[in-house]
Amino acid sequence: MAKRTILKLGDPALTMKSEPVAGIDADIRTLVRDMIETLHKAPGIGLAAPQVDVRKRVVTVDLSIGEDPDALYALINPEIVQREGKCIREEGCLSVPEVYEKVARPQKVVVKGLNLEGSEVTIEAEDMLARVFCHEIDHLDGKLFVDYLSPLKRSLIRKKFKKPEAKKKA
Ligand code: NI
Repeated sequence: MAKRTILKLGDPALTMKSEPVAGIDADIRTLVRDMIETLHKAPGIGLAAPQVDVRKRVVTVDLSIGEDPDALYALINPEIVQREGKCIREEGCLSVPEVYEKVARPQKVVVKGLNLEGSEVTIEAEDMLARVFCHEIDHLDGKLFVDYLSPLKRSLIRKKFKKPEAKKKA
């Protein structure tokens, strides 16, 4: 397993739409393993493939951050097929470190996708789990949580993340 680099806000790759996975091969399995390791080491509760510079429709979610194997989801070609209710809560993103803002998300969602064996799975998620699935699936469409904020807030946050090269050296 290898930890991969997480792209940060301002990287144009994060705004691109990801392609559906055509077949679950060795590359996809390696990608998922690496994403789980990257997610746990970050540490975070959700990671989408475009955040590690792979434009494929793959997400990993783990509210337990490695504590509970049953809480770990790796979904291929995930889709939200049902949404219900509304919940406003602070949200963050591994690609936008140290920024937390209130975002409205459905209170409950039904997510469909494939597991690593290629079988279709349906997940009924509520509250935080619903939020994380919505957030990660947004990444697959090039959308970040800051896109839900007011233009003013968004531009202030974007300014913080300009010139990542200079920031790394500082
Ligand atoms: Ni994110």
